[in-house]
Amino acid sequence: EKGGFDHFMLKEIHEQPKAITDTYRGRLLRQEAIIKMAGVEDNMKKFLNADRIIIVACGTSWHAGLVAEYIFEDLARVPVEVEYASEFRYRNPIITEKDVLIAISQSGETADTLAAIKLAKSKGAFVFGVCNVVGSSIARETHAGAYTHAGPEIGVASTKAFTTQITVLTLIALRLARAKGTISSSDFRHHLLELEMIPKKVEESLKSDAHIQKISEIYKDVSNFLYLGRGYNFPVALEGALKLKEISYIHAEGYPAAEMKHGPIALIDENMPIVVIATKKGHYEKVVSNIQEIKSRKGKIIGIVTEGDTQVRELADHVIEVPETLESLSPLLTTIPLQLLSYHIAVMLGKNVDQPRNLAKSVTVE
Ligand code: M6R
Repeated sequence: EKGGFDHFMLKEIHEQPKAITDTYRGRLLRQEAIIKMAGVEDNMKKFLNADRIIIVACGTSWHAGLVAEYIFEDLARVPVEVEYASEFRYRNPIITEKDVLIAISQSGETADTLAAIKLAKSKGAFVFGVCNVVGSSIARETHAGAYTHAGPEIGVASTKAFTTQITVLTLIALRLARAKGTISSSDFRHHLLELEMIPKKVEESLKSDAHIQKISEIYKDVSNFLYLGRGYNFPVALEGALKLKEISYIHAEGYPAAEMKHGPIALIDENMPIVVIATKKGHYEKVVSNIQEIKSRKGKIIGIVTEGDTQVRELADHVIEVPETLESLSPLLTTIPLQLLSYHIAVMLGKNVDQPRNLAKSVTVE
């Protein structure tokens, strides 16, 4: 049932090329240059009239929401707020009929997310669900939605659910951008083409596995890790840190790279490994200077870089390459090595990767 893999998590990491393909199949029609999503199409007026989009989710799904914030604002030019469902629901939030709320949940059973949906509905907002589990409570409670079609995710640490959530949200953002005219037709086509190439590039990224194992061996006994990224890859840094905490029980923090100088830089010494997402597009030069700051404090640098990168390679202790893509799609690739890094470290430490202590696959308590 694990398909020859030692753990469900590893199987699910490797399933991502297929899962992402399944997610956009029948929706991304490149020849016709259109995106077809019934749940969006049928409610286009609601989306177009929305003053803003509020995204609610927990954990990894919340990280997917943060990535979506960048994509929606960038492409569809609609203001987005991303909220922890548990905070949103308890703070008497301002919700009107002109709001669209997108709830993201792999399981579709997360109690806080479900409660946030009910609250938004009671205030007249239009609620759209992005779930993986078909027929789940959240899928039923929302007005409309789009499934991720990732297939069952058994490992408690979410992997393919995350990348397929980002895929669905990217499709929605592109569809809205087209409807609003905030993206040119050539740019739109370019995005479709690049998105269609992502599964192959994820496969490429997975080939770094042996190299990542070696890096894991070097750092598996440390007690702290930092993860840094900017722009689209800031949420990926958060996700990388969560993955490591969850299954290896090593303390890890994700930060926007530029925030480092406002505090976390004090943590850096020769014992601190810092994973820096430094892909070519997207604030590359700025990230390189962040790396220089780390280097001068003797931190150990693991750079996630674009294939062929030389600048970061010169500074970093290790680099892990991912293929080049659009900045907006880069989280789908940069996430992969971070999943593998946490997986290998946890395995080397003898942890229960698929069922980490204190955690459940779906959190149905508030
Ligand atoms: O099923 P959901 O997407 O609503 O779950 C949300 C979180 O509980 C979940 O993403 C959790 O953070 C994962 N274990 C992370 O790997």
